[in-house]
Amino acid sequence: MSYWPNKVVMITGASSGIGRGLAVVLGAKGAQLGLVARRAETLDEVVGEIEAAGGKAVRLAADVQDAGSIVAAADQLRAAFGPIDVMIANAGIGPTRDAAKFSAEEVASVINVNVIGASNSVAAVVPEMVARGQGQLVAISSLAAYRGLPRSAAYCASKAAVSAFFESLRLDLEPRGIDVTIIHPGFIKTSLTAGRDAEMPFLMELDDAVNKMVRAIEKRRKRYSFPWQLATIVRAGMIMPIWMYDRISRANSFRE
Ligand SMILES: NC(=O)c1ccc[n+]([C@@H]2O[C@H](COP(=O)([O-])OP(=O)(O)OC[C@H]3O[C@@H](n4cnc5c(N)ncnc54)[C@H](OP(=O)(O)O)[C@@H]3O)[C@@H](O)[C@H]2O)c1
Repeated sequence: MSYWPNKVVMITGASSGIGRGLAVVLGAKGAQLGLVARRAETLDEVVGEIEAAGGKAVRLAADVQDAGSIVAAADQLRAAFGPIDVMIANAGIGPTRDAAKFSAEEVASVINVNVIGASNSVAAVVPEMVARGQGQLVAISSLAAYRGLPRSAAYCASKAAVSAFFESLRLDLEPRGIDVTIIHPGFIKTSLTAGRDAEMPFLMELDDAVNKMVRAIEKRRKRYSFPWQLATIVRAGMIMPIWMYDRISRANSFRE
């Protein structure tokens, strides 16, 4: 039997890119969705698309940086469809910045959205999951979590934090019946990567990437890094000596 029918799923960052793609696919598979993002009108379009295909979704306009608004969004979703079974912490930003033009404000903003936003999303669902002894937390991290990349200090730091954060949650929550799935995607065609001139090896179409992520969530994978070609290169980078890592990383900057 399919994993998704009648599952209540909260997705942050559902107004575009990966979050929107996951919402449309999971809606078609029978999940009942709560769609979180700041752009209410864009969320309405996604709700409309899901309902037109026979699915169920509610718009939850909120900023993940605001803990109270995420709690309110989760309450609204429960009122519509019942207890939340799966929470996908996907909302994220990824500005490019040469450290010679350092911006502390930008670093704070990336950490606030990517890390604190994910923590606020967890906080809004975990007490109920613990009480029910079931649930699944999903983090959309990045292959950028594995090691520092050029022009990406804030983004790499935020994704390393997200991966370690959810790994710790897994250790505490799995014995209480809550699965934790950490996803590390490579490059996917979304507005986050649009307009970059730099080469993006193994760049994936959004639909292909979304289908891979859906399968990983269904299987309750603890960690899923893809595409395998780039994941293998990144893993090799983790055991490289620093001189070799620096030379290769500087020669292959993925951000212009
Ligand atoms: N694309 C890639 O190559 C790639 C690779 C690895 C990992 N990722 C990760 O995948 C996730 C989604 O990225 P994407 O590529 O789909 O980018 P995207 O198309 O730019 O989507 C980002 C989503 O996050 C939402 N968001 C941003 N700030 C928010 C906030 N403060 N509160 C609530 N929602 C917020 C945006 O909605 P609003 O603007 O409406 O709020 C939007 O729905 C990110 O965490 C990203 O780091 C992407």
